[in-house]
Amino acid sequence: MASSRAVAVEVSDVHREFQIGDIAIKALRGINMEVFEGEFVVVLGPSGSGKTTLLNQIGGIDSPTKGRVKVHSEEITQWTTGKLSEYRRNRVGWIFQFFNLIPSLRAWENVALALEFKGERKNMKTLACDMLDAVGLGDKINRFPSQLSGGEQQRVAIARALVKNPEIIVADEPTGNLDFVTGQKIADLMKELNRKFGGTFIVVSHDLSITEKADRVFHLMDGQILSVDETPSLYRNFKKVQEN
Ligand SMILES: Nc1ncnc2c1ncn2[C@@H]1O[C@H](COP(=O)(O)OP(=O)(O)OP(=O)(O)O)[C@@H](O)[C@H]1O
Ligand SMILES: [Mg+2]
Repeated sequence: MASSRAVAVEVSDVHREFQIGDIAIKALRGINMEVFEGEFVVVLGPSGSGKTTLLNQIGGIDSPTKGRVKVHSEEITQWTTGKLSEYRRNRVGWIFQFFNLIPSLRAWENVALALEFKGERKNMKTLACDMLDAVGLGDKINRFPSQLSGGEQQRVAIARALVKNPEIIVADEPTGNLDFVTGQKIADLMKELNRKFGGTFIVVSHDLSITEKADRVFHLMDGQILSVDETPSLYRNFKKVQEN
């Protein structure tokens, strides 16, 4: 049961307000959530509900106006900008909708860069190539991003996120720019890597292929968590009904 597992991420009463001139935009309005170590959770919600803003608080890209975020019991919202940037470099893997690969670098170099940032220069190429192998791209290590399909580019991005062995993997619509079948393969791969490498995955997605693989689904609406779905297997049934 999830309740007996260690907590990887704890978000407590997190608010995030953006000020544009005289107008205050309340992007997050008192978020509480716990994600357990090794869990694969999905955050679902309509456009503008605060999904990216929430991921940014957990990934140390942004800080809340009010509230606390703890990662493995360490309160990251108390940290200096220097410590936060070390956290982002060393402990968090990001996967984005538009892959964000560096066009002038080969696949393996894009992956190795994450190790370089972390200061792990030993065996960089071998580690990068091993991770590309794990995502099914062992034969395309020397390709540039423009020589890869969208699905393959996302595999490189996933390898880049995982090569540094991060505690937390945050993904913002990782299949949003892929066709259905390719998206399904990426969803399968992410779940497989979650089992194999054991990091905690927090994924924003509308994609049923991913949602059905989640341990739990958090429903976000207007900056608040409306409900937590402990039985995402229901999405599998829903998908079956849709397919029939
Ligand atoms: N830097 C910013 N300055 C001002 N407002 C912002 C900023 N970032 C986000 N917002 C606002 O906060 C709210 C939540 O935005 P967010 O990007 O988190 O939504 P989202 O759920 O990720 O949406 P989408 O599905 O379209 O990506 C929106 O109303 C957005 O306009
Ligand atoms: Mg977003």
